[in-house]
Amino acid sequence: MVSVGGFASRLEDRLEGNLKEYARIISKEVARLEEILKDILGFVKEVRIVKKTVPLNEVAEDVIELLSAEFAERGNTLVRKLDASGLDITIDPNRIKEALLNVVSNANQATDGGTITVSTSAEDRGVVVEVSDTGCGIRDEDLHRIFDPFFTTRPTGTGLGLAIAKRIVEEHDGKISATSRYPAGGSTFRIFLPIKEG
Ligand SMILES: Nc1ncnc2c1ncn2[C@@H]1O[C@H](COP(=O)(O)OP(=O)(O)OP(=O)(O)O)[C@@H](O)[C@H]1O
Ligand SMILES: [Mg+2]
Repeated sequence: MVSVGGFASRLEDRLEGNLKEYARIISKEVARLEEILKDILGFVKEVRIVKKTVPLNEVAEDVIELLSAEFAERGNTLVRKLDASGLDITIDPNRIKEALLNVVSNANQATDGGTITVSTSAEDRGVVVEVSDTGCGIRDEDLHRIFDPFFTTRPTGTGLGLAIAKRIVEEHDGKISATSRYPAGGSTFRIFLPIKEG
């Protein structure tokens, strides 16, 4: 793929007119295929979980910070309701951040000029992270498919974000679920992670 892309971009530099445009399309499409392949390999690959004890709110803050430019780009406001202050949890922080990143970035992509709320709380034998948005909502007939690999309604989506998030949450013996209102709008994703005794 890298060599196809490389040669296409050399052709693009040398060619003129229509042919130059065709070479540009080849480079652009190769770049898109590379992205898709990266997602698929990330999904297929077995990852070893490396657990650490970390503050739950820090995990949420790190994800919010990573996406702050993207919230601004769509005119969305991020609201924090991080009630789980001082609450530590033993997880693979990088994997859980990846899961949460996928959920929060979906919320942002579904919302324009609205609000994304990230909340954390303690529950009986576990913690909950909830991500709500005021976005377009999810059709009833789609709601049971959103966690399936390759299910997407976005023109540029691969449909792996939620499948990966679900896999990661289940690796931690947790649960992920979604509720939505359509066509009124607004969706809520809930991630439950158990705290194990002993
Ligand atoms: N917060 C949300 N609001 C509305 N629809 C959503 C939301 N989150 C997920 N979806 C729906 O679920 C589908 C699957 O989401 P998923 O993250 O798995 O894939 P994607 O975002 O389409 O592509 P990718 O994450 O691979 O770039 C989306 O295409 C969209 O239809
Ligand atoms: Mg996604």
